[in-house]
Amino acid sequence: MNKIIFASSNYNKFEELVRIIKLKNTEIIFSDNKFEAPEETGTTFFENALIKAKYYSKKFSLPVISEDSGLCVKALEYQPGIFSSTYSGTNNALENNRKLLNKLKDKKDRSCFYFCTHVFLRKFDDPFPLFSSSQWNGYIAKESIGKNGFGYDPIFIDSKSGLSAAAISLKKKNSISHRFRSLKKLEKKINKLNLNE
Ligand code: IMP
Repeated sequence: MNKIIFASSNYNKFEELVRIIKLKNTEIIFSDNKFEAPEETGTTFFENALIKAKYYSKKFSLPVISEDSGLCVKALEYQPGIFSSTYSGTNNALENNRKLLNKLKDKKDRSCFYFCTHVFLRKFDDPFPLFSSSQWNGYIAKESIGKNGFGYDPIFIDSKSGLSAAAISLKKKNSISHRFRSLKKLEKKINKLNLNE
């Protein structure tokens, strides 16, 4: 059985990932907080995902899948973007949501999208990283709706169904989300490799 580390300190993301991605003969392990997280000094989702993948593959000496994701709001010049997890200055989702609702108080255009990028490295100096990305279009609600999900889900409304990401089941979220679409592309690419080579 091959082992791949999912490089993240966010267990919610891991919970979604293991339900979405199926890799041949491979177990995916949550990196947890075993090592202090690296500084995310990139200016793009892709750069930050690569920083995390390189850091954790070196620490664990194992192949790694990393993710960088966030919420991009059109009326706020696509912020919070790569700064989504600490938008309010803390890592607290309630505070982040409150700040965002406040910023949008007088804005007509509430459209937004979740974006994520995934990177896969066989080893930290792998010259052939695999990557994928996707987005999920929606708009920001006027107030929190629903109890499922994490982060901005209670205020993110899926543009197709009109339901908040926290009001739909995890199963439903995992069939339409940015994470689902990106991971399905990565799954295809990884399953073409021979991880024992
Ligand atoms: P990262 O750990 O630096 O990639 O930060 C990702 C942040 O983006 C999370 O902490 C959330 O604030 C936000 N985010 C990304 N994907 C989702 C999602 O599926 N639901 C809710 N919030 C999300």
